[in-house]
Amino acid sequence: MSFDQRAFRDTLGCFATGVCIASTSDKDGRPVGLTVNSFTSVSLDPPLVLFCLDNRSESLSAFLEAPGFALSILSAEQQSLSNRFARDPAGTRWDGLAAVTGKGGAPLIEGALAMLDCAHHATHPGGDHTILVGRVLGYANRTGAPLLYYRGGYAALANGQG
Ligand SMILES: Cc1cc2nc3c(=O)[nH]c(=O)nc-3n(C[C@H](O)[C@H](O)[C@H](O)COP(=O)(O)O)c2cc1C
Repeated sequence: MSFDQRAFRDTLGCFATGVCIASTSDKDGRPVGLTVNSFTSVSLDPPLVLFCLDNRSESLSAFLEAPGFALSILSAEQQSLSNRFARDPAGTRWDGLAAVTGKGGAPLIEGALAMLDCAHHATHPGGDHTILVGRVLGYANRTGAPLLYYRGGYAALANGQG
């Protein structure tokens, strides 16, 4: 059976999501991060969340070796950060950004709508991606409108509210 990858991606894109920056620190303490929309809540007790990381990601080894990672959920005003962490060279993504370090050792994006600070809990194979499960050590959120992603492009809540 032939499998039309484009049509498959278009189908997946019908599921509207938020946008996060997944972040960690490499073994030299340098911040590492990328844009993801594969964030999912997993469990309330224990508190677990996951995201899926492409096995070709330059950041993969840093995420696998680190004791923890963070997810910063972007606000509607942070679309440029989403583009930066998806497109810019990994080494320049954090230039000029204010970030605080969470308990899990990962940098958190200042001004995000919400953040989840995690300890590495489990890793599972997921085809051409790796599923990273984090145990939530800390979290915070503020009011505001989220950045949305739908059918391959950014979107906003119809009522403009958060
Ligand atoms: C809205 C959006 C969502 C994305 N979601 C993911 C994702 O869930 N997992 C992933 O591995 N890449 C995702 N990407 C792609 C990465 O951000 C992009 O390939 C990045 O350059 C990877 O950087 P790295 O190789 O330094 O890890 C997404 C990109 C965008 C714009």
